[in-house]
Amino acid sequence: MSHKNHKKVVLFASGSGSNVQKICEYFQNHETIKVTHLYCNNSKARVLEKVTAFGIDYTLFNKAELLDSDKVLEKLLKTSPDLIVLAGFLLKIPKKITEKFSNKIINIHPALLPGFGGRGMYGINIHKAVINKKEKRTGISIHYVNEKYDEGANIFQKEISVKEKDTPLTLSKRVLKIEHEYFSKIIEKILNGGK
Ligand code: GRF
Repeated sequence: MSHKNHKKVVLFASGSGSNVQKICEYFQNHETIKVTHLYCNNSKARVLEKVTAFGIDYTLFNKAELLDSDKVLEKLLKTSPDLIVLAGFLLKIPKKITEKFSNKIINIHPALLPGFGGRGMYGINIHKAVINKKEKRTGISIHYVNEKYDEGANIFQKEISVKEKDTPLTLSKRVLKIEHEYFSKIIEKILNGGK
């Protein structure tokens, strides 16, 4: 496939970007899929250096620009990505974007949705809640994004067991490892599997 026929993935991230790193590595020399851009709301985020090392450009914006202007929407419409991937993106995607890119935005969540999703359920809070509730299983969910937090249809889940001696920190590390293992493969499957 020539370069211009590659399917285009754009990433949204706010933080350290370990998933972004893995995704960029996975698709670096891919035959049919290319990571073309990063959208980020945090000018100090470590993810910016990560994509730059892969020669990928980024667009910075703040919360007000995302919500009250069409800066992000217009850029997305102009570049027409095949898939928008939220990889540790902390702001809510506004309706004007979700309705234009219906079934084209996916997110990864470090728990088994619909459990442990929604308001306040991010980062270490999730793993604390899982342990406090004495859950035996946790895992990851990759799901479509609609205008409600964490409520779009699930695409993929992978479970792991919560061990007696797990702390929120040990659990978060094991869950993140699973994210790294599966996220790129699921992106590839969505784009190349005809869905
Ligand atoms: C991941 O746990 C992901 O599930 C959640 O945000 C975290 C991002 O981590 N949505 P990183 O920035 O990819 O390291």
